[in-house]
Amino acid sequence: VQSIAVLTSGGDSQGMNAAVRAVVRSALFHGLKVFAVQRGFTGLINDDIRQMDLRSVGDIIQRGGTILQTARCKEFMLPEGQEKAAQNLKNRGIDGLVVIGGDGSYQGANKLSKLGIKTMGLPGTIDNDIPFTDFTIGFHTAVSIVVDAVNKLRDTMSSHERSSLVEVMGRHCGDIALYAGLASGAETILVPEIEYDLQSVAKRMKENFDHGKRHSIILVAEGVGKGDDIAKAITVHNGIEPRVTVLGHIQRGGAPTHNDRILASQLGDFAVRQLIDGDSGKACGIIKNVLVATDIEKVVNTKKEFNIEMYNLALRLSQ
Ligand code: F6P
Repeated sequence: VQSIAVLTSGGDSQGMNAAVRAVVRSALFHGLKVFAVQRGFTGLINDDIRQMDLRSVGDIIQRGGTILQTARCKEFMLPEGQEKAAQNLKNRGIDGLVVIGGDGSYQGANKLSKLGIKTMGLPGTIDNDIPFTDFTIGFHTAVSIVVDAVNKLRDTMSSHERSSLVEVMGRHCGDIALYAGLASGAETILVPEIEYDLQSVAKRMKENFDHGKRHSIILVAEGVGKGDDIAKAITVHNGIEPRVTVLGHIQRGGAPTHNDRILASQLGDFAVRQLIDGDSGKACGIIKNVLVATDIEKVVNTKKEFNIEMYNLALRLSQ
């Protein structure tokens, strides 16, 4: 490739800016021309594309959100939209594209790859729901935000000997609830990947309080259901009224942790080097600390494996 573009798409995540910076600086380092597309695939269709230099990505490694902005683009779902997007890139002599986003963005990258654009995907989502990578960019930061919130809730719950139910994001994936639950010592973690019995959850809660526990934290992944409904069902079983907190989009904001900045930097640079080596149609990830590129087609057709060992560990330690 001689000339590449980068875009961010889907829900934003902390570390997307660090990834954009890495793509731009690595491309320039290797003598490529590099362009940025504004507002994801919408910008590609509207030809909202500008050339980047070293300074265009200064002072962004520490910032949440994405300077390139993002969108969930309906027009791009249609073949005409995809062809227009590919044509806009070709008209500008851009032959490579790095797409930073989640599942839906990967589907888009896959379509463009089939239309002759050399494409690389980078996993940018807080959900950690992308297979063939241990972690996605933004996940660590989201988890640390949840842990911080649970610490605060624990203070007030202990004072009042109350129970707190915290609903976290993750779409169909329970990883935010699982990792944050383990890290914050939550008594109960409910994730969509594992069946649960609310009656025994409620029974255990009651017994714990009866045996001197001063608080109880229940972490619920949004893929399980609404926090309010689960809290009400618990009350029916044991008479305890958990106070509900829905953390919502606060999980997607703020400065990325050092882990996310480093992961974004490694993956951004890796994607550029893969393109230079002639690779295309791949999604980049990190597995056991090794950078890997997997066929994007395979990635979009595989469900991420749930970390059952970590779940069992959290269970063992939450007595
Ligand atoms: O994919 C990231 C995510 O934050 C999910 O965890 C959540 O279900 C969804 O996006 C929220 O979407 P929106 O920002 O469109 O409300």
